[in-house]
Amino acid sequence: MNHTTMPSLQERYRKTKERLEAFGQSHILTFWESLDDSRRENLLAQCETLPLELLKREIAASPETNTKSPFSIVDIQPVSIVRSHLLDTAKYLALGEKMISSGRVACCTVAGGQGTRLGWNGPKGTFPATPLLQKPLFQVFAESILAARRRWHGNIPWYLMTSPLNHQATQDFFREHNWFELGEKTVRFFAQGTLPSLSLDGKILLASHDSIALNPDGHGGAIRALAASGSLAEMQREGVDTLSYFQVDNPLVKAVDPLFLGLHTAHPESSSEVSSKVVAKRDPSEKVGVFCRLHNRTVVLEYSDLPAHLAEATHHDGGLIHSAGSIAIHAFSRDFLQRIADDGHGLPLHRALKKVASIDLSSGIVIEPTSPNAIKMEAFIFDAVPIARQSMVFETRRDEEFAPIKNADGEDSAATSQRAQSERAARWMESCGIKLPRDEEGGECSATIELSPLTALDAAELAQCANLPHNVAIGAKIVL
Ligand code: UTP
Repeated sequence: MNHTTMPSLQERYRKTKERLEAFGQSHILTFWESLDDSRRENLLAQCETLPLELLKREIAASPETNTKSPFSIVDIQPVSIVRSHLLDTAKYLALGEKMISSGRVACCTVAGGQGTRLGWNGPKGTFPATPLLQKPLFQVFAESILAARRRWHGNIPWYLMTSPLNHQATQDFFREHNWFELGEKTVRFFAQGTLPSLSLDGKILLASHDSIALNPDGHGGAIRALAASGSLAEMQREGVDTLSYFQVDNPLVKAVDPLFLGLHTAHPESSSEVSSKVVAKRDPSEKVGVFCRLHNRTVVLEYSDLPAHLAEATHHDGGLIHSAGSIAIHAFSRDFLQRIADDGHGLPLHRALKKVASIDLSSGIVIEPTSPNAIKMEAFIFDAVPIARQSMVFETRRDEEFAPIKNADGEDSAATSQRAQSERAARWMESCGIKLPRDEEGGECSATIELSPLTALDAAELAQCANLPHNVAIGAKIVL
């Protein structure tokens, strides 16, 4: 915009105030008079991009979190699950490999979360994840992609979603590590959007006198952000039509899995729009989303939405009827994501009651709440699943592909994930005929093994590795 036509600060203030008043949110400007020009600029810039229409709809729908399941239990049916032992895997594998080598596949990792449970100071992808060398999560994925490129000779660009809160720190980290040998052009950062946190009566909260309390708009924000950043258009120009999607917290993920990609593209149960990997739930109370059928659509229900008696229902053999636990690994077609982005409605927003520090309007000071005081809204990527004409659900092995780092300790922590990484490497070594020390048949391996994806992406590739050890002592530490 030309400087002579740029509206003055006062003019922008007037318009913003009018707009905020119309939506009952003008309290955001409470401290305007006490701000200097640069802080006024700050606040206006945030106000001008507020999705007030959307917020109004959300607040009108229900000001508080919706804790009641919106689904009628009679509607919920089990989902059909594709399992590899019933398949002609060679055919799908060959197809997936061809997709990769012809440059049709990109990776997409969502790394914009705040990692509050882990309590790590910095982007979660910088967290030291591997059992011996403590390589950060980002490096594990980078090595997987590099190894896949070497093996299948595809380009495999990597789209990495950050949030405005960690965008700079994430980029700096990659630069400091020379993009983990992938090359600067391969790693493509795009920032997700944010949404304001609301008080329980639907008012936008302030983080300071000149800033709104914003939270990233959830992993579901990836679709809008991929479109808005020009990433989908870039993929189209480059001939990428399929995305391998995964989260930043699971170091066991196969970043590029040709079998899954081949199934996504050609299996009769897939419309090639979105496919998902699942693992059998550990037990009825495991807190993971569950794939089900609802009104003739495949959906993911949050664990709290699946009634207990359905969660506990079993087949004759004792297996859970609703066993398909979501592990947030998907294949998406680029066209499908573009269609959702173009639709304009976006994915539905979910609300969660959270503790959010915010400014008390009468005293002007920050209040650190001791109990949840705010509603955070987020979109979830799995809400794309029912939008697809048909959506394939493929079961994989938890011990091969899923060991997330979510918590500082206990379940799904670095300790449990590192054990799982080491155990997987141990199983692969044993399949190569190497004897490893175990307490008992089937018990835990007493050695700790760190296996880089650059050494082997699977057990068969490990078998070709020339320098595998043959005598492994109790408690040994092995880096491969
Ligand atoms: P989680 O649901 O585990 O959330 O994210 P989180 O923010 O990382 O952790 P907590 O809940 O604060 O402890 C699952 C995945 O989705 C990404 C995360 O980075 C992680 O890969 N995510 C989540 C985003 O990219 N953006 C978001 O707004 C939320």
